[in-house]
Amino acid sequence: MSSSSSARRAGRRGSANVRATRRPPASAPPRRPLRLLLIAGARPNFMKVAPLLREFRSRPALFDARLVHTGQHYDELMSDVFFDELEIPKPEIHLGAGSASHAVQTARIMEAFEKVLLEERPDWVVVVGDVNSTLACSVVASKMSPPVRVAHVEAGLRSRDRTMPEEINRIVTDALSDLLFTTSPDADRNLRSEGVPARRIHRVGNVMIDTLRRFVERSDRSDILARLGVAPPYALLTLHRPSNVDDRQALGRIFAALAAIGKETPVLFPAHPRTVKMVREFGLAPAEGARSGLRVLEPLGYIDFLHLEKRAALVLSDSGGVQEETTILGVPCLTLRDNTERPITLTHGTNRLVGSDTKAIVREARRMLAAGARRRRPIPLWDGKAAARIAAVLADQRTTSGAF
Ligand code: UD1
Ligand code: UDP
Repeated sequence: MSSSSSARRAGRRGSANVRATRRPPASAPPRRPLRLLLIAGARPNFMKVAPLLREFRSRPALFDARLVHTGQHYDELMSDVFFDELEIPKPEIHLGAGSASHAVQTARIMEAFEKVLLEERPDWVVVVGDVNSTLACSVVASKMSPPVRVAHVEAGLRSRDRTMPEEINRIVTDALSDLLFTTSPDADRNLRSEGVPARRIHRVGNVMIDTLRRFVERSDRSDILARLGVAPPYALLTLHRPSNVDDRQALGRIFAALAAIGKETPVLFPAHPRTVKMVREFGLAPAEGARSGLRVLEPLGYIDFLHLEKRAALVLSDSGGVQEETTILGVPCLTLRDNTERPITLTHGTNRLVGSDTKAIVREARRMLAAGARRRRPIPLWDGKAAARIAAVLADQRTTSGAF
């Protein structure tokens, strides 16, 4: 962080350190709940806001939390299904942004969210992950007058690949955030090396894993395998990164690998709408059916997906969240990317980076299928209690921020 922006921050928030030491007198009237706006827009956000909203709503004396859905994802199977399954209350506010180019989608969210902020005047905007909705709402909140403070859940992850739109979203959101909640020590180090003061960084664990731990038993009862008429062993594939699916060559190389793997192990492929669109545009439909071993499905609900993920002999994916989930489930995961912002899944988990080279994918898939699950090291704080820790830190802001 540059010294000028540090100064701006110090100025705008006053002497936070001094205030932090000043406690209200014992006779002070109880403070009102913190007004929070929690932002969700795309599929992986829903797993992350579910435990946070549950935690905030269970403490009405401390928090008045409202959910904003930006509308970045809108298909029933990319959005509504998760509200039902993960018991997420209906969003109070829906921005209806929809799909568009990065600039247009981000601008639509920003324009609509500014109106919401002017109306709602929250104390904090809580953003999760690294999607365009995360970036858009952080920028708008930071530029309000006076600024609305931003808390970023899943801060500090870095792939060091700026061709990845999410990397830009992460860097900007973290630079603007007042509280940065991290999942792993590497994220803390990244933030510190970018000049974020230690007092803003809180390592709390992983809210996506809160959701996994809460719903894994329920997912054990899913009948998705029977509905599909599939029995283990099988591989599970997800694919949606622009570097893989917007690039005809890369997509072709991955499909060629699947053709080889499918001959040995059936591959179940719940296909992301972006991928479906690009496959059509390229006229590159992969060979499907019993002989090829590839089964293309609609996107799955969380409970069915988790059921398949837990029982897969191998997961092939370019998803961020899936690298973390397979790590906790102990399922071998081959990440079809050259880098990851989640290195802890390589060092402690079951994840291996393989890129999009056909031969490398087939070779590594065979190797991992033969080896089975790898030994894992437990990851501190990925224990199902991350949202509770975040709520505790935020609750503390009521007495230390001097905002009221
Ligand atoms: C977004 C996130 C990505 C995240 C992914 C999770 C950004 C920059 N990208 O990527 O980080 O990993 O979500 O799934 O924020 N579409 C539909 N229906 C929907 C949503 C999308 O058909 O409900 C199609 C549209 O054609 C759209 C395309 O998918 O243009 C891409 O959607 P978009 O939200 O722009 O990016 P994702 O690839 O989904
Ligand atoms: N997921 C799901 N259905 C699917 C594919 C994925 O419920 O068909 C879940 C998966 O378990 C994880 C989340 O979606 O919790 C990951 O989202 P995604 O891969 O879209 O985004 P990323 O994590 O890459 O940003």
